[in-house]
Amino acid sequence: MMHPTHKQLFEITEEQLETGLRGYPVGYCVTSTVDPIKGLFYLEKPISELAHLRPEEVIYFLTTGSLEKGSDFDNFCVQLMQRSSLSPRIRDYICSLPREVHPMKLLVMALEILGGIEGENRYPEDCLNVIAKMPELVATIINYHAGWGETPHSKPELGYMENFAHMLNVPKLKHSEKFTEVLKIFNILHYDHGGGNLSAFVGKAVASGLEDMYGSLAAAMCALAGPRHGRANQDALDFVKSIHDQVRDQEDADEVEQVVRDRLSHGGLVFGFGHAVLRAEDSRATVLYDVAKKFFPKNSLVKTALFLRERGPVVLKENPKIQNPYPNVDAISGTLLCAAGFDFPEYFTVLFGLSRIVGIARQIVYERCEARGGKGTPIVRPKYLFKSNRSR
Ligand code: MLT
Repeated sequence: MMHPTHKQLFEITEEQLETGLRGYPVGYCVTSTVDPIKGLFYLEKPISELAHLRPEEVIYFLTTGSLEKGSDFDNFCVQLMQRSSLSPRIRDYICSLPREVHPMKLLVMALEILGGIEGENRYPEDCLNVIAKMPELVATIINYHAGWGETPHSKPELGYMENFAHMLNVPKLKHSEKFTEVLKIFNILHYDHGGGNLSAFVGKAVASGLEDMYGSLAAAMCALAGPRHGRANQDALDFVKSIHDQVRDQEDADEVEQVVRDRLSHGGLVFGFGHAVLRAEDSRATVLYDVAKKFFPKNSLVKTALFLRERGPVVLKENPKIQNPYPNVDAISGTLLCAAGFDFPEYFTVLFGLSRIVGIARQIVYERCEARGGKGTPIVRPKYLFKSNRSR
């Protein structure tokens, strides 16, 4: 039997062009991996084993590979606390940005401002600094954009995400303890998703030109802001709500199934299902469904999301072209935030960004300072084939 040569294995055919680089190995990811069936692993640990730890423990794990809670970990937590405050000048700049834009645009601008003024142009230092400052940065952006008043003084001693919850002036919050718990889990689940998700890839590509950490992360957040990537959680909640509102009997799974089928047959879209890599239910979604069932079993939106989890794949499987009919993390994350009292979908993607910065920043440190024996990866420069007007 003839084995394909190395060259033949990697020869690119025409059908493989313009497919979003799906599946092409381009480098190493030291933080996480995504198995099509088993889902997300941070290093070698499945996400289900990490989701209920403290966010600081998981950030430390992604940074050092250790889950030990000795003096090094304590020192890491002190570093996070000491570096967490935003200077009044940065806060003032953020609070003079235009309020009519989407909050993700504010996040992008805020990162550039922070980096321009306080960036050290050293990837590892900036990595820790930006991770430490993100809770106050994002709380300031949300409070300002939403008109929820001045951001309370930071209390980093409360804990990384506890402090974020304390600084968010969410109006009429009924379940504040559960909200904090949901925020912590949401935060941990969204740190990283392999090396090739769009925001991580863009952040690393921009850093490969030796742009600093903050500019690279600002570019990554532009990538995250698109509705096919991070903003999908906002659209997925709208979808769950619209199904919820169309169904007459909220206890009837058959009716949910019928509404989804009718929607698809009328050319409507289904949000929160499918994924570029996954071919089974997203393991992050599995964690969040369990939390939703535990914390908010009677919430009618949660019930709709659970019926969608069960019946969405049944309907989607009727279309043989759909490769993955199963729910991804967005199918439940927005519903859970909403059930916890945070019914403000416009801010869901900045919550995603607050988290994803952790994985991207760490991946940038690897590519810039550790890869190829410390030399770092070269500037990203793929080849595009010329196509003339005539052949388009
Ligand atoms: C993510 O978390 O980045 C998304 O699931 C998208 C992806 O992995 O490509």
